[in-house]
Amino acid sequence: PRIVVLKGGPSAEREVSLSSGTECAKALRTAGFETVEIDAGVDLPDRLAEARPDVVFNALHGRWGEDGCVQGLLEWLRIPYTHSGVLASALAMDKEKTKAVYRREGLPVVESILAPREEVEADHVMAPPYVVKPFNEGSSVGVYIVAAGSNRPPVLGPQMPGVVMVEAFAPGRELTVAVLGDRALAVTDILTDGWYDYSAKYTVGGSRHVCPAELPEEIANACLDYALRAHRALGCRGLSRTDFRWDEAQGYAGLVVLETNTQPGMTPTSLAPEQALAAGMDFPALCRWLVEDASC
Ligand code: DAL
Ligand code: MG
Repeated sequence: PRIVVLKGGPSAEREVSLSSGTECAKALRTAGFETVEIDAGVDLPDRLAEARPDVVFNALHGRWGEDGCVQGLLEWLRIPYTHSGVLASALAMDKEKTKAVYRREGLPVVESILAPREEVEADHVMAPPYVVKPFNEGSSVGVYIVAAGSNRPPVLGPQMPGVVMVEAFAPGRELTVAVLGDRALAVTDILTDGWYDYSAKYTVGGSRHVCPAELPEEIANACLDYALRAHRALGCRGLSRTDFRWDEAQGYAGLVVLETNTQPGMTPTSLAPEQALAAGMDFPALCRWLVEDASC
């Protein structure tokens, strides 16, 4: 079969996606597939018509590629594609609506509100510490942390949308679990010197990943269980990755679910491929699995 790998695109995570796409295309060739890479621009429908793929491998991240838009186009064109469909992608990309689904599923979440950016910049809209972020971006793009005791509201950059998400700051360890099909793969504990921000995420050596994480069994099992339930409740397909914070000092009550990524990073520093490897599946095998799971 002929595979088109979609990468790049116009989102704030363009560079991350270029890296994911290049890695996946390489792995697909290793797995024996004929592979074409397309940088997804406004001419995407024409490029797809030219390329005539049997399957589209979606390696896009962020808006338009992870939020149901490209999935809708591929449904319309009747081209099978990897990862989640339209609804799950759109839901998971909206961090606030995702929480409504988590709550109904009984998963622990951090309190948050949506607020106009002018209000957020005028005064504290909740007691610090809190985090201000776009409700529909990934890779920590546009995340502002307002420290405890801060007496100034944040000054947001011009790229921030008119309405932003303000979330109580959840302290603790950064944990993550990828789900592949009906299986939660492993828990990774992400160790960083400072925040696990964009540069820590994508610089080699920017963070250290302990997989499987060294955690009390109760916490590890809860992460695996919550990730699988989040994947199912959102209606995800193929691969997803759910991120957590765990405040050790609070024990079991200190574990919260932050978000589910329907197009988890596939870069050389990314987490889901490491977990697949820990579960006995190398990167070409993971990419092959996703191609075989594709549908429309
Ligand atoms: N948003 C990035 C790609 C991730 O979650 O891995
Ligand atoms: Mg994310």
